[in-house]
Amino acid sequence: MRIDILTIFPGMFNAVLNESIIKRAQLKEKVKIVLHNIRDFSLDKHCKVDDRPFGGGPGMVMHPEPIFRAVEHALACASGNKAAARKRRFGRSRGAKRKIILLSPQGKRLDQKSAKKMAKMKQIILICGHYEGIDERVKRFLVDEEVSIGDYVLTGGELPAMVFVDCIVRLLPGVLGEKKSLHFESFEGNLLEYPQYTRPANYKGMQVPQVLLSGDHNKIQEWRKEESIKITKKRRPDLFRSGEKKVKRG
Ligand code: ADE
Repeated sequence: MRIDILTIFPGMFNAVLNESIIKRAQLKEKVKIVLHNIRDFSLDKHCKVDDRPFGGGPGMVMHPEPIFRAVEHALACASGNKAAARKRRFGRSRGAKRKIILLSPQGKRLDQKSAKKMAKMKQIILICGHYEGIDERVKRFLVDEEVSIGDYVLTGGELPAMVFVDCIVRLLPGVLGEKKSLHFESFEGNLLEYPQYTRPANYKGMQVPQVLLSGDHNKIQEWRKEESIKITKKRRPDLFRSGEKKVKRG
């Protein structure tokens, strides 16, 4: 997979992209992540990327041009074919294994199900919005989807883009060491994950549940399932109910 990130603050990504699992995924060539500074695509002599809104009102709005040009560049880099990239200029990525995504609080909320769909793409282009907003033509004629990471407003799309990248990259085949670690995590089967313990079995009087030390794998499985159900019912009754609708849990 290739991920292009369009931002006016590329420096914000250094720590996240160059540490831990995301760094290893790039070194193993499971993903190629490319940062583009939107300012580099401004045709303004001062490299301006925003302006006052037509019709008046507070704040500034991001210009469409640098964003359209940055997306064209990201497409051309991926395909190695500038003409092809230009041809699709005002159409969305219909049918292609590619998504152009704007991070925005007005978007559809990111969840594990949509993350899994995204992880099947060949190329994802992430646009980090800023200021009061972004020219509507970017949303109407360029972007395939708007994605939010939650019902709260951040200062820009950079942190949401990092969350998005982390969430998608760990799902790519070969990125996490053990395949199993994906199967038993939170949100699988609409359940939150069961509690985990490691050595020592007794830490200052705080005991690990006896069943986990029993060596009886059936009992351990049963206990984990029960704990998952308990914690999901308590903390995320909405998630539990939507899981119940889909499957009758055994
Ligand atoms: N930009 C600002 N807030 C955001 C959010 N919650 N999700 C995605 N992008 C954003």
